[in-house]
Amino acid sequence: MTFEQWTRAVLERVEDALEHYLPTESTEPAKLHEAMRYAVLGGGKRVRPLLCHAAGELTGARPECLDAAAAALEMIHVYSLVHDDMPCMDDDALRRGKPTVHVKYDEATALLVGDALQSQAFVALTSDVLEPLQQAALVRELALAAGSIGMCGGQAIDLASVGHKLTREQLETMHRMKTGILLRAAVRMGALAGSAPDAQAMRSLDAYSAAVGLAFQVVDDILDVTTDSATLGKTAGKDAKDGKPTYVSIIGLDASRALAAQLRSDAHAALAPFGARAQRLAELANLVVNRVS
Ligand code: IPE
Ligand code: IPE
Ligand code: MG
Ligand code: MG
Ligand code: MG
Repeated sequence: MTFEQWTRAVLERVEDALEHYLPTESTEPAKLHEAMRYAVLGGGKRVRPLLCHAAGELTGARPECLDAAAAALEMIHVYSLVHDDMPCMDDDALRRGKPTVHVKYDEATALLVGDALQSQAFVALTSDVLEPLQQAALVRELALAAGSIGMCGGQAIDLASVGHKLTREQLETMHRMKTGILLRAAVRMGALAGSAPDAQAMRSLDAYSAAVGLAFQVVDDILDVTTDSATLGKTAGKDAKDGKPTYVSIIGLDASRALAAQLRSDAHAALAPFGARAQRLAELANLVVNRVS
């Protein structure tokens, strides 16, 4: 199977899984459920679900187990986007080529969409397709990655950094927390949904994810200055306008591109112990970085 065929097949599963794990539009309160589905369905690159499936294939996870983990990861991610776009955070009007949730509905609805997606993610992870011990392990991974030592913590640093000049170390910490840790969770959860990898294999997967996770936000920073809003599906040029410290503002565009390419090599190197079995993960590292090279 080519990478394109594999991706298409996984993405189809992911859409079905999200449909399955989200309440229907007619479930009361219908407006909240309609808004949750508006935020989640039919858009986005689904990078976290793809990473989860690729890692799970490496450990022989059953596809239904990966569907639950992938849906949970995407719901947490979308919740983070819905809140990230609100006026109290980045104040963005466009996401995935559509009006953001607070623009299409209202702020209170956007707040509740995020809250409810976060809860629904953990409902998906406690689906009985997963063994009880796996459920507990996956819940813990996702909760840690989403919380104050992961995504929320990174977002707090991001907001506190507006208008400040961060050191490169501080910027790296912020990016790893707000974005990298959830991507690492995607890989770890996919792996844990199969026959649990030994400590050595988990270390290799973590090294891969550390590289891809940081690369992902470096690429996001680059695209904000190099790409137009129509292509991005979100407002371009927003980071500079808002005074956000980014890789581009701190090390410049060329050095940011070089860093992304270096991180792609680091990701590939970390997969060496798995040989050809890690082909999908290697291809996903390319998918992330090749958007800017
Ligand atoms: C955007 O995430 C926010 C970041 C963490 C950089 P994505 O680039 O994964 O957004 P979608 O899911 O494809 O819309
Ligand atoms: C968002 O970072 C990270 C999270 C949502 C956790 P950004 O603020 O750079 O994401 P975009 O550019 O709005 O997608
Ligand atoms: Mg932000
Ligand atoms: Mg933003
Ligand atoms: Mg951004």
